[in-house]
Amino acid sequence: MVVARHRPTKAIIDIAAITENIQNERKRLANDTALFAVVKANGYGHGAVETAQAAAAGGAAGFCVATIDEGIELREAGITAPILLLGVVAVTDIALLATYDFSFPVASQEWLSDAEHYLSDMSLPRPLRAHIKVDTGMGRIGFLDAQAVAQAASWLDQHPAFEWEGIFTHFSTADQADTVYWQQQHLFFQEVLTALPHLPTYIHTGNSATALWHEQAVGNMIRYGIAMYGLNPSGHALEAPIPLKPALSLVSTLIQVKLLEKGAGIGYGETYITPQQEWIGTVPIGYADGWLRKMQGFSVLVEGVYCEIVGRVCMDQLMIRLPQAFPVGTTVTLIGENNGERITMQDVADQLGTIHYEVACTLSARVPREYKS
Ligand SMILES: Cc1ncc(COP(=O)(O)O)c(C=O)c1O
Repeated sequence: MVVARHRPTKAIIDIAAITENIQNERKRLANDTALFAVVKANGYGHGAVETAQAAAAGGAAGFCVATIDEGIELREAGITAPILLLGVVAVTDIALLATYDFSFPVASQEWLSDAEHYLSDMSLPRPLRAHIKVDTGMGRIGFLDAQAVAQAASWLDQHPAFEWEGIFTHFSTADQADTVYWQQQHLFFQEVLTALPHLPTYIHTGNSATALWHEQAVGNMIRYGIAMYGLNPSGHALEAPIPLKPALSLVSTLIQVKLLEKGAGIGYGETYITPQQEWIGTVPIGYADGWLRKMQGFSVLVEGVYCEIVGRVCMDQLMIRLPQAFPVGTTVTLIGENNGERITMQDVADQLGTIHYEVACTLSARVPREYKS
């Protein structure tokens, strides 16, 4: 998708906020606990390379991404710090793990056997850095029992093509007030560790929520994602113990302003009809930018005034009801602060009935990201 640079709609990313969010978490961690910044999915929509650099400035020792290609993007940008992939890699891509020096999850014995078979006549420049993934109750990827984990650990110890670098899990309810299921998962992970012949370099359980609300259980590395972008992982449920500064604003401008008579239909399907004479403004952002049709009825900010989105959101544009005539070119804030008023990504998520993670990731590649420090 082409980036629409010749259009006033843009996401503004506050690089300093990301650095500060990382620094605030770094201060809470033990000195020997590494912070890996999670910059998958284009840095949760904020831009992978730029946010990785901002996180490094705040004390991130490494990065997590979901896919090989996301890792390659960081390497090609000159990032030499450790990179851990979070998703299972096809064994046929194993050579890339060595070429780019990626750490990666081992989630089953079957994968190890396949890898051994595939590697049989291949020589690699360095041992492959394996992190055993334990499924403590997410039901996603990973080993399900302690014995199988211990076997995989021994297998890795016996295979010089591999370095057993880490063991980890991902808790599914660390962001909730009710900790019963979290305790079960935590306990199971401890049992798994106890059954091991020895421990690898990295033991890690912590996403942002675990790091913020269960810091005693993170091991010696955290995988810090959403909180580095200044967003509370729990939504409304729990208060974060440190300030989280939102890094992303979404802005545009009015591209047309018109006075419509009572009874005018607005947008596809005529779902809004002006009940009286009204000023209507058009804003160049739509569902192709990730501003979805469900945003109809929500508000944006113009000169500090909340203005309702009226009529259906189109692919590239939307219409808002203005309290008065504002000049074309006036700033429209969709996320962020405008004249003392603020719309948060959480507000947008609430409107959509989803989580802010999804809002951030849904902002499409067409929206330019502009970085300010
Ligand atoms: C395995 C794993 N670790 C860490 C994270 C980061 O989570 P968060 O953004 O909640 O900090 C994710 C995110 O989805 C993940 O899948």
